[in-house]
Order: sequence, then C-alpha cells, then structure tokens
Amino acid sequence: MDLTAYERRLSRPTRIKLPEFQRNGRLKHVIFADQFDRPMLENLDTLSNMVRELARDRETQLFLRDLLPHKRAMLYFTQASTRTFLSFTAACQLLGMPIAEIRDPSVSSEYKGESPFDSMRMFSSYFDLVVMRTAAAGFAEACAYLMNDLDEFNERHVPVVNGGSGADEHPTQALLDIHTIQRCFEFASERDSSKRTRFDDYRKTYPDLTRGLDSKVYGFCGDIGRGRTVHSLATLLALYSDVQMHFVSPPDDRMRLPGPMRESLSAKGVKVFEHDSLADIVENVDLLYMTRIQWEHDKDNSGRSGPAAVDPNFVLTPELADRMKSYAPILHPFPRNAEIPFEVDHNSRAMYFREARNGMWVRAALLAHLFDVDGLIVSHHREVFSHYHDYNTGSK
Ligand code: NCD
Repeated sequence: MDLTAYERRLSRPTRIKLPEFQRNGRLKHVIFADQFDRPMLENLDTLSNMVRELARDRETQLFLRDLLPHKRAMLYFTQASTRTFLSFTAACQLLGMPIAEIRDPSVSSEYKGESPFDSMRMFSSYFDLVVMRTAAAGFAEACAYLMNDLDEFNERHVPVVNGGSGADEHPTQALLDIHTIQRCFEFASERDSSKRTRFDDYRKTYPDLTRGLDSKVYGFCGDIGRGRTVHSLATLLALYSDVQMHFVSPPDDRMRLPGPMRESLSAKGVKVFEHDSLADIVENVDLLYMTRIQWEHDKDNSGRSGPAAVDPNFVLTPELADRMKSYAPILHPFPRNAEIPFEVDHNSRAMYFREARNGMWVRAALLAHLFDVDGLIVSHHREVFSHYHDYNTGSK
C-alpha cells in the first residue's frame, strides 16, 4: 500500500489531526478511538440502548428502517472479518440502508492495477458511506484525508469509518466494548450483570464496588502488541478516572505492551502494570479482556498457516475463571483460538457473545449519529417508552 502522498499528514500527532475528522462538534469520519470523549460515549450508550429497544417490535423496527433508506453504504473489507462485517451489515439493515460489498480485491479493478485510492473515490461516487477494513495501518485515515480534500474542492465526499486498520486501531470495536462494559457496570439489567444478582448483593461481598467505569481494575491478556482492539479500548478506558490496567502478554517484543502506548496511558493518569501469566491477575481484576495471539502477522516468517498452540500462561481455564470476582465480566473481541476453552462459555461471567451482539446496536447508533438522525431516534423512543422512567431498564 503506497501511502506516500499522505505521509506528512499521517505522521502528525493525533491531537492535531482530530479536528479534521469532525464537523460542528460531531463526527465526520470515524478513524481513531481518540476522537471520542466521555459525553460522546454516554450519548452513544443511551442511543444504542434505544436502538436495541426499538428493534424489538415490528412497528418500532419499521420506524428505524425508515430513517436511512435514501443512503447507501459500501462495505470495503479486504481483510478477513466475520463480526465487524456482519454487524455493520445488520446495522445498515436496521436503519434501512442498502449495502454493497467488496471483500476480495482480486475480483475488483485493483487486480488490474487500480490504485485503492481510485477505488475509494469510485465508492464515494456511488455510495454515501464507506466502512473499511484493511491490513494496511493508516489507509482508512488516508482515505479520510482524500474525502476531506474532495470536500475542499466542492467535490462529492462521504464519511469513512475504520472497521479495523492493520495492527493499530479498531475504534468501533472499542465502542461496542465500552457499551458492553457500561451495561455490565450499571448492574441494572439482570441479563448483563454476570451473576444475575443486583448491585446491592454484590456490595455485600465487595463493599468498595461502585457503579460505572471509574475506579476499576482492567485486565487485558494475549497479543497486546498487535491487538488493535486492545489499543482502541485502552484509549477509551483511559478517559475514566482512577483506572488501573494490567497487561498480560508473552515475553516477546512484538506482543508486549508497546512503549508509546504505555507512556500515553500513564500520561493520562492510568496506573499501568505488566505481567507474564494470567494467574497473577485473575483475582484482582474487575474485568478481563482476553485476546488471541495474532499469528497471521508472522505467518511469512515462520511458514505457519494457523494458530500456534497457546501457552497455558495465557489461557483462561474454567478454574481460573472461577477465581475471578463474581461480577467481573469476561470479554473477547473474537475470533478466539484456544485462550478461552468452550467450557468457560457457561460461566456466568462470560459476556463475549452478548458483547458481539451489542456491536449491532452500537454500530446502528453510530451510523445514526453520522447521518444526523440520532435526534429522531431519541424523540421516537421517548414517545414509545414515555411510561418508563429509566431508558436503561425500560425493557418490555
Ligand atoms: C478482531 C480484529 O479483527 O481486530 N476481531 C474483531 O473485529 N471483532 C480481533 C482479532 O482479529 O483477533
């Protein structure tokens, strides 16, 4: 991937870039986790819950489907994907947006030598949004600059959403992870609190437990160095106060917490710790975020064509899972290899399937924000659920 034309802009510090991905205090493109602040995360949480509730019945689902039937989405996923691709598909369908997809560049004109930037500009002529996943870090960001340049010249331009770029960022996965954590730490819904009991019951065992994402100990295990979901989620969790993060990874420089990430988290006030065995942290964490070893990154060097055997130090066995705090959710962005055995799926702390399903609501909420129909969702939800006081517990 030749990004030379965008190199100068790509190499700037993130904070300088951020205004270029916004318009009137709202999102214009979704490229980095750093674009989000706490109020935005709160709003997206509320909006995602509203989408979830409105999607339950035929009538209210028809309302959602009538929001964006005049906008078309292009899903440009040239790197393997199941959940991100399908939940964006489902999110578009929820809002009535027709979609098209390219998942294999060998069946597009890129095979004939077309520049991916020309492909991108073509997508923006036919569609109103491009969601993209690529192996090349920086490509989604460069595409956002391409769109901004077109905007400057009064040419047609569309929002770009990063659905996973190389080993660096996966901001929409972080949004759905945050939404899942918000629901878990609200301790409001029986289905989301891991032991199907309420907050006051937990407090009998854990008197210091508080609601919300502040004052929590977050554990991450697996390929921290190359796990883009970990990078984006840690960035968002650093927005909360009194946060500890414990990173467990193999003792390999490619998989360890990258130095710049450690520095940026510490600069934001996060207390950062590193470990080489999951057993060291399980009892201490309020939440455990498991990830697989990203073996495909070194496929060329080692000749391997599938997941390596997982070192037992990075496997959440049923016994280790049982040692965790009873309310502490277990998350995983999936796909999993052997780091969470199937037996753990029955543990009441296992939230990863719920987490994946949340991707649909959060991505629909994000698309509604990008196309300025979020206000319509809020007012319709208020009308339909006016007899409920609390939207978060207003399930039927
Ligand atoms: C992840 C990804 O592709 O970054 N999965 C996802 O999008 N839910 C994690 C991974 O590939 O390990």
